[in-house]
Amino acid sequence: MFQKKLFFIMLTAVFLGCTQTKDPVEGKIDELLSKMTLQEKIGQMNQLTGTGLSNDMVSQIKSGKVGSILNELDLKTTNELQRLAVKESRLGIPIIFARDVIHGFKTIFPIPLGQAATWNPQLVESGARVAAKEATATGIRWTFAPMIDIARDPRWGRIAESCGEDPYLTSQMGAAMIRGFQGKNLSDPTSLAACAKHFAGYGATESGKDYNTTWIPELQLRDVYLPPFKVAVETGVASFMCSFNDINGVPSSGNEFLNRQILRKEWNYSGLLVSDWASIEQMIKHGVCTDLKDAARKALKAGVDMDMMSYAYINQAEGLVKSGAISEKQIDDAVRNILRLKFRLGLFDHPYIKEQAKMPFYTEDALRKAKQAVIESAILLKNEKDILPLTDAIKSVAVIGPLSDAPADQLGTWCFDAEPSHSVTPLAAIKNSYGAKVKVITEKGLTYSRDRSPQGIAKAVNAAKKADVILLFVGEEAVLSGEAHCRADICLPGAQPELVTALKKTGKPVVMIVMAGRPLTIGKQVEEADAVLYAFQGGTMAGPGLADLIFGKAVPSGKLPVTLPRMVGQVPIYYAHKMTGRPAEKICLIDNIPVGAAQTSLGNTSYHLDAGDSPLFPFGFGLSYTSFNYSSVKISKNKMSEGQTLDVTCNITNAGKYDGAEVAQLYIRDVVGSLARPVRELKGFQKINLKAGETKTVRFTLTSDQLAFWNADMVKRTEPGEFQVWISTDSQSGKPVTFNYI
Ligand code: GLC
Repeated sequence: MFQKKLFFIMLTAVFLGCTQTKDPVEGKIDELLSKMTLQEKIGQMNQLTGTGLSNDMVSQIKSGKVGSILNELDLKTTNELQRLAVKESRLGIPIIFARDVIHGFKTIFPIPLGQAATWNPQLVESGARVAAKEATATGIRWTFAPMIDIARDPRWGRIAESCGEDPYLTSQMGAAMIRGFQGKNLSDPTSLAACAKHFAGYGATESGKDYNTTWIPELQLRDVYLPPFKVAVETGVASFMCSFNDINGVPSSGNEFLNRQILRKEWNYSGLLVSDWASIEQMIKHGVCTDLKDAARKALKAGVDMDMMSYAYINQAEGLVKSGAISEKQIDDAVRNILRLKFRLGLFDHPYIKEQAKMPFYTEDALRKAKQAVIESAILLKNEKDILPLTDAIKSVAVIGPLSDAPADQLGTWCFDAEPSHSVTPLAAIKNSYGAKVKVITEKGLTYSRDRSPQGIAKAVNAAKKADVILLFVGEEAVLSGEAHCRADICLPGAQPELVTALKKTGKPVVMIVMAGRPLTIGKQVEEADAVLYAFQGGTMAGPGLADLIFGKAVPSGKLPVTLPRMVGQVPIYYAHKMTGRPAEKICLIDNIPVGAAQTSLGNTSYHLDAGDSPLFPFGFGLSYTSFNYSSVKISKNKMSEGQTLDVTCNITNAGKYDGAEVAQLYIRDVVGSLARPVRELKGFQKINLKAGETKTVRFTLTSDQLAFWNADMVKRTEPGEFQVWISTDSQSGKPVTFNYI
């Protein structure tokens, strides 16, 4: 009997094996690979920055030594380079052209941190689609985005490119960008292969200084830094990029645990892994490789498929294979991943980009979406006496500040192909759209964010005195954030604090709009201003979006994707912190300590004497011109177990006089675990539109998996015990409801 069963099982297996349709692309890869010499294989693994039709580039392409080119932007040149590869190299393998298209190509959207503040994945996806259509028209088919590094240190310049501090929000935003860039089908000529970067842990860079070392215990790596990358794999991201940093001494470009164990084995990722710029060679500087050959060997062993600008593979890989240090199979595996992307992009069938008489830049649709992103990314932090939106009672405004008319700086970092001449600044937008309604008086005061010349302040004060309301645009120049642009102090640069104080003294209402690439410590300025809109850097349409918010044609709905600290000394400060054994209580701030106070008189709990323990504004915070009332949360059961779901609902009422949008946030807390757990963790959000007076019920379905965490046994599990759940307007509000997981 047993033999019969075994025979039947084997027969079925053979049948399935034969009929299982092998992906036709894999067959094409096998066939092409079988024809390739070792040198041609290594050539595919070589990515170079564009040098036009230089003799060196032309000869390398003809000899099959170039797999990809980044930063080539002239369409005619791109098509000619592609023709050389397809027609004049032995096997005619097309090149994949790449570029950093981070938050727009020509039509620039808010920086990704600002886009995250919209909490609107559909809008963010539409922005990435706009970028893909514009970029692919110039021959680019691969972008190095989304950047989904969790960033909890605003000193780090690259927080501007991130989606903030939370793994769930970053996962949702990253997935939206991937969908937008890649579109429905990678072979569509407007599809832009996306790249999940930087893998991994880059945002944990010590002291917020770029490229610095990181120390990340595996549990934290898996709980905090890896989830957005895992979601990127599940979303079908076409490529990954290594990060520059080391994790616990191991640079990512040589990290087998990260790139093989986690990315390939655990996540079953079959896309392409590219190094960062010269990050393979930089392993010599890191002090983990002796020379370029050693670096090439380490990177190949770690599964890095393509070498961006280290010249390590092209110069060393052949020798490594011939010496047996690396097997040709390891080379083949890398080349498969590269060829697979090229086949999926349709480059073998359509290697060239059609030249268009009119490039699809700055279309009405693109500008409309960019403006909507500005509107939804702005966060209303304060609105004393409802000074905003400005009513018809206001007959004159003084538009002041270094960011009031800064077409390049409002674009933010990482937008090399943008054209500031297309920027519509706040001053221009207010004049164009509202100049008939109000008299616009203007005086920058400071000409750029770092400006310290006081004479401009006096002129600004004089201008302000002639107006009913001051619209003050402050913040950072674009160059003060982004890669390698980190700040040890994150106050308003230059004499901007003095400008705010001087304008406050005029007694005129001050509406302060902050256009920055990171959270800034603006506590004093928030006190001095009557209203505050935090707008990050909003891109091409920053002006029209902000003008519509100020004059009430739009209502703010942005929520903080990152905590705003009171002082830089509080950093890192984030909402999903641990309770600790002595959570802050009876806080006595430094100015309230009696002279001669006894050492133990202040109690012994966790806070800073000069800052307390709370941020200036918490993650998820954002006001509206209307107000939203939350009913108490209801849950569908008090006990849940594995595989079950829990419905969590509450009613939200728009209690004000403006229609508006509210982001209802779902948080949980695992009260007792095998490890201390965060006081709250975001597990869902819904952005709902409510007319004035309208009530809606928001419903979330919580699964048992969503309660899981990587526990002390390095196993992702949902542990039995008490849980709390909130639906709230930010990460500090609301009353939790308790349930038990059994
Ligand atoms: C940079 C960045 C990376 C970018 C790459 C190509 O140094 O770290 O994010 O995609 O080089 O420009």
